[in-house]
Amino acid sequence: MTATPADAIGEHTTTAMLDVRRLQKIYQSKDRSVEAVRELTFTVGAGEFVCIVGPSGAGKTTLLKCIAGLLGATSGEVVLQGNPVTGPPAGMAVVFQEYGRSLFPWMTVRQNVELPLKEKRVAKAQRRRLVDDALAAVGLAEVHDSHPWQLSGGMQQRVAIARAVAYEPNILLMDEPFAAVDAQTRADLEDLVLTLWKRLGVTILFVTHDIDESVYLGQRVIVLSNSPTVVLEEVPIDLPGDRDQLTTRSQARFTELRARIYARIQEAKKGRRAAV
Ligand SMILES: Nc1ncnc2c1ncn2[C@@H]1O[C@H](COP(=O)(O)OP(=O)(O)OP(=O)(O)O)[C@@H](O)[C@H]1O
Ligand SMILES: [Mg+2]
Repeated sequence: MTATPADAIGEHTTTAMLDVRRLQKIYQSKDRSVEAVRELTFTVGAGEFVCIVGPSGAGKTTLLKCIAGLLGATSGEVVLQGNPVTGPPAGMAVVFQEYGRSLFPWMTVRQNVELPLKEKRVAKAQRRRLVDDALAAVGLAEVHDSHPWQLSGGMQQRVAIARAVAYEPNILLMDEPFAAVDAQTRADLEDLVLTLWKRLGVTILFVTHDIDESVYLGQRVIVLSNSPTVVLEEVPIDLPGDRDQLTTRSQARFTELRARIYARIQEAKKGRRAAV
């Protein structure tokens, strides 16, 4: 599936999986308030793969936490499949950057992947099948009885991905999931996510610092300004759907798209914003 220009500017509200409408988030404490997100509006269609890039501190994690119902918006709203998000929604899974903290060290790999399914009250036999399938999909069937601390960083992140996949979400949020792994593992994990996305038809919203990664993975890239954050630009990624680490990244169009996003981020760092 490729994003059309209409998708890119969010004109397909009737088929939207996710609608972020004028979202603002101000962190309020006793002695100070921080406006992290000023006004974000964008739409993600069902089955789309959308990447979000923006400078460090732009409010990307804040945005994902609001979408995941872990933080309340100050104003504006997040609408998932037509329903306003007021708490963690069913049908959503999140993979965080810090796999070390997102897995329970006293549980085995299998138990970690199974936990959300128990909470979802999935029957035992079905749980077993979903966990086996998810671990096989990420290439970890062999280590299901290990504990997370016995695995490498890349393997731990694959466990986190398996846990999200086993949950069978409609929408998967990923917050810089590969920032802490080495380049080769990162490339493998990128391809794993692309394969799973194609196979499962899940909607993915993927936050990354890495412009190349956003162009390689996304059908569309949303470029955020620095904090307080607004959307600077939405860039449709008109590369062929079949991506390959060597071929895709060496295409002239890949370089053009990366240069365009890079220039936008540089502007953002200087504090210039799009007219809104
Ligand atoms: N709990 C909090 N209380 C107060 N301010 C916060 C809180 N969490 C984040 N902020 C502030 O909100 C802004 C956005 O933070 P956020 O973590 O969302 O950015 P980010 O884009 O995810 O950054 P990075 O790229 O470094 O992960 C920052 O100025 C940050 O200091
Ligand atoms: Mg962050």
